Amino acid sequence: MRSLLFVPADSPGKLAKAPGCGADALILDLEDSVAPERKEAARAGAAAFLAQTLPVPGRPRLIVRVNGLATGLIDADLDAVVPAHPDAIMLPKAEGGACVVHADAKLCAREALNGLAEGAIRIVAIATETAPALFVAGTYRGASARLAALTWGAEDLSTELGAETNRDAQGRFLDPYRLARTLCIAAAAAADVPALDTVYVDFRNDAGLRRECEEARRDGFTGKMAIHPAQVATINTAFTPSDDELAWSRRVVETFERNPGLGTVGLDGKMLDMPHLKQAQRILALAHRGAPG
Ligand code: COA
Ligand code: MG
Repeated sequence: MRSLLFVPADSPGKLAKAPGCGADALILDLEDSVAPERKEAARAGAAAFLAQTLPVPGRPRLIVRVNGLATGLIDADLDAVVPAHPDAIMLPKAEGGACVVHADAKLCAREALNGLAEGAIRIVAIATETAPALFVAGTYRGASARLAALTWGAEDLSTELGAETNRDAQGRFLDPYRLARTLCIAAAAAADVPALDTVYVDFRNDAGLRRECEEARRDGFTGKMAIHPAQVATINTAFTPSDDELAWSRRVVETFERNPGLGTVGLDGKMLDMPHLKQAQRILALAHRGAPG
């Protein structure tokens, strides 16, 4: 998944617009973009949208962001959406693998009640939204086969830390958020799942978004969440390998294939060894990740 577009699930207008936005995944939001008195409307909106969109060929992946485990709202969220069989839930304010195990148990029970295969609904966890979460980011590995990806958040974290802002005057994340971002990348690599970059809230600033996408991809993220349809094309482009990258990757793989048994080879005057081969294979895999569905 390159782009994942948040859609407040209590907004019929945004739900109607969302499938045509070109995002690889839609995140139907029941959490922070929905006011407390609108939660019930959002649950109904998400369930109806899932029922309508799941059969559509070539549809984006459908993820529901439920409310966090500590809110007292998550059970009603799951009761409303599990029968409609989303591809995944997004678990906000996750604090390590224990929270994924907890959400896994809630999903197991409801999958059984609804005749779904155990594990049919995956989990994408937001790993850095609270202070305690930062200290357990390394515990996702092996928590659940449902874990599909990790992402991170800077907005709730900055509120929790008591900060005035999370970005500097040039729009770059400040140190506490760069730490959270790095922990997300490392946590995802440790758990062997993709890392997805957080949202860019300045949604009219395309140059700023492009820069943030390029930096994210450089550092190991494989996709990024969006809050506005105008961000989707920029994200998709940034996380799609370029023709030059693909050509380089194919040449690296071919060079190793032509030299079986060699751990290190030369190409264009540069030494290549196993990390380069793995990097080339990773780029080719990114290009081949199929259309969502
Ligand atoms: N998904 C689907 N459609 C969206 C959308 C979204 N996330 N954001 C905007 N749109 C639609 C608008 O409804 C509008 O449609 P219309 O032309 O048919 O009226 C069109 O895109 C243009 O929107 P625009 O006027 O530029 O933005 P806005 O002021 O209506 O909305 C936000 C701005 C930030 C409130 C809105 O983008 C949004 O709700 N984003 C998601 C917020 C969210 O989920 N946050 C939680 C995660 S951090
Ligand atoms: Mg939030």
